[in-house]
Amino acid sequence: MTIDSMGSEALARIAAAEDAAALESLRIEFLGKQGSVSALLKTLGAMSPDERQVEGPRIHALRQQVTDALAARKAALDGAALAEKLATERLDLTLPAPQSPRGSVHPVSQVMDELAEIFADLGFAVATGPEIEDDWHNFTALNMPESHPARAMHDTFYFPDAAHNGGRMLLRTHTSPVQVRSMQQQGAPIRIIAPGRVYRSDSDATHTPMFHQVEGLVIDKGIHLGHLKWTLETFLKAFFEREDIVLRLRPSYFPFTEPSVEVDVGFAVETGKGGKDRRVLGGSGDDPGHGWMELLGSGMVNRRVIEMSGLDPDEWQGFAFGVGVDRLAMLKYGMDDLRAFFDGDVRWLAHYGFSAFDQPTLSAGVGARA
Ligand code: PHE
Repeated sequence: MTIDSMGSEALARIAAAEDAAALESLRIEFLGKQGSVSALLKTLGAMSPDERQVEGPRIHALRQQVTDALAARKAALDGAALAEKLATERLDLTLPAPQSPRGSVHPVSQVMDELAEIFADLGFAVATGPEIEDDWHNFTALNMPESHPARAMHDTFYFPDAAHNGGRMLLRTHTSPVQVRSMQQQGAPIRIIAPGRVYRSDSDATHTPMFHQVEGLVIDKGIHLGHLKWTLETFLKAFFEREDIVLRLRPSYFPFTEPSVEVDVGFAVETGKGGKDRRVLGGSGDDPGHGWMELLGSGMVNRRVIEMSGLDPDEWQGFAFGVGVDRLAMLKYGMDDLRAFFDGDVRWLAHYGFSAFDQPTLSAGVGARA
């Protein structure tokens, strides 16, 4: 075979190589130790000087041509591979996520955000306190001394041996100790809500050992029961997003409020019979006039509590209330078993959970969109 035909055959085969592996075996075939071009170079040693002068440049030129062709083909193959990779692995971050979103906001978190939004509009700040609380803040300072019978109703989880200021440590049974802590820490006036977890040794369809409350506290001068009623009415109308909310205040007893009022809620609905009936919120379906839903405890802050929290009760008065957050969520969003709130069942969460984009705002209505 002449050098020329060797060259053209080599170049044709290199140009036709389909991938890097084929190209590498061609390189070995031509330029490897046993390669055909290498063999040709070895023939130079046996040539006469004249012959070598003619053949030398031709053989070297052949080697150069083959080397260049291999490099060019390799560049072309690499470029094609890169282009293909770019085409298949293209990631456009501006496109919407292809999968449906996985996580969701728990109804309890959503309702707490709704409450914070509603009360922020009324000038309330959000306060917090420890869930591991001492006996004094949870009971004594709230006018429940050691032997007070109301303590027995709280089904308290006590820590076995931790003591603080002579009292035992416990899991707070309500958010009311945040009233005491707020008065101690910031003095007066005060307008706060305090949402959070509370614990009682109790468990059935409507009670779980951990649940959520939101406490409200206003301390100022000349505060009276009318302020309490207006605040609760305004809050509940905003929360349930309807104007026909009606409240019923019943005399009650809490050691830390005097007087104390239990608040029931109902709203008027068209019965379809032409008249309007009171019907309980989320209550027993088609039974209009079926009474009221007991929703929260409240009252004027007992002057003994104000005093024990370091303020002068002759100068400062106020009201407080405590609501079950889980209960509010059940009423608004229609769940009927409290225990399911804390099972972590992904189907329940997918059904009742909220999109992270569903930020409650007063302008859009605090209720989440369907
Ligand atoms: N702390 C009370 C409870 O858990 C509720 C409450 C709060 C009542 C504030 C009156 C005032 O039952």
